[in-house]
Amino acid sequence: MKAIVVQTGPENNPLAWQEVATPAYGENEVLVDIYATALNRADLLQRAGKYPPPPGASEILGLEMAGRIAAVGALVTGWQVGDRVCALLPGGGYAEQVNVPSQMLMRIPENWAFEQAAAIPEVFLTAFVNLFIEANLQEGETVLIHGGASGVGTAAIQLAKEAGCRVFVTAGTDEKVVRCTKLGAELAINYKKEDFAERIRDDTVGEGVDVILDMVGAAYFERNVRLLKLRGRLVFIATLGGAKTEINLAELMSRRLRLIGSVLRSRSLAEKIEIKQRFMNRFWALLEKGTIQPIIDSIYPIGQVNEACQRMAQNQNIGKIVLRVREID
Ligand SMILES: NC(=O)c1ccc[n+]([C@@H]2O[C@H](COP(=O)([O-])OP(=O)(O)OC[C@H]3O[C@@H](n4cnc5c(N)ncnc54)[C@H](OP(=O)(O)O)[C@@H]3O)[C@@H](O)[C@H]2O)c1
Repeated sequence: MKAIVVQTGPENNPLAWQEVATPAYGENEVLVDIYATALNRADLLQRAGKYPPPPGASEILGLEMAGRIAAVGALVTGWQVGDRVCALLPGGGYAEQVNVPSQMLMRIPENWAFEQAAAIPEVFLTAFVNLFIEANLQEGETVLIHGGASGVGTAAIQLAKEAGCRVFVTAGTDEKVVRCTKLGAELAINYKKEDFAERIRDDTVGEGVDVILDMVGAAYFERNVRLLKLRGRLVFIATLGGAKTEINLAELMSRRLRLIGSVLRSRSLAEKIEIKQRFMNRFWALLEKGTIQPIIDSIYPIGQVNEACQRMAQNQNIGKIVLRVREID
């Protein structure tokens, strides 16, 4: 089969569509013919040699895919060759085929395009686990989502809104601010034009927020902590603005705050299966109805993966950048 292989070299190693070995599939796995995959910020880091795949995972880029089952392992039940599926992957999505544990599969409705399904697993499962499991976000609470127009942000806004929460976001352009508002954010702040913390303090009459989903880290840390209400939760999912900072522990104690660090990719298969199942139980029917949906920024043929990565690296995307791996037969 063919797959995108990272060419070794300096920063921004070029990617090439090359012949590689077809993946083997185990007795509890299926082999999937991939029709579409999607970019994630982590792919840019992995490509630059700064984010190696977890032990045992494919070296090929790609944390999600949608396609048709091509072969079924001996112990798999409930799935057949030809079934349309999507799944979260620890790697291996930028390829013509991938092996997937059957319990990670999500069945996609007949009326969904593969490009739509491929844009769901990574960002919706990330938003779900961090908002509802890690931060235990509850109906009626207020959540601040940084990077509101990112893939993760566009999923998180919709899930939090559906859960009956007030949603505030930050984003870096006025166009992104407008899109976030359309998705359900009550307040969207262009952080390049105004101080998000001051604006939120004004809008909440000094109250602040219950939960913050943060991908910026050090550059926002002090302001994030000050914005949290009593028993507030701050979840870190990335450090785009730096990883090292100072903490005033007295402030954490007096307001009984919780700081939570979280990654999805390196969790055990059992944890990922549970997250996927809990997400499906709560939100899959809403995705099927179209009440919530993956926000697709753009679709590139796999041969233009370098251009697709450049768009993400320049922070131009609103929602997901999808790669079409093969045409529908
Ligand atoms: N921990 C986990 O398990 C996990 C899982 C998935 C994703 N993530 C992380 O979550 C983030 C979002 O992922 P994604 O794939 O959805 O990303 P994405 O679509 O590429 O969006 C990231 C956005 O972050 C903003 N940004 C970039 N640098 C920034 C900076 N220094 N300060 C403030 N904002 C900055 C940019 O938007 P603006 O124009 O608005 O600045 C950019 O478009 C990534 O950092 C990713 O690594 C973590």
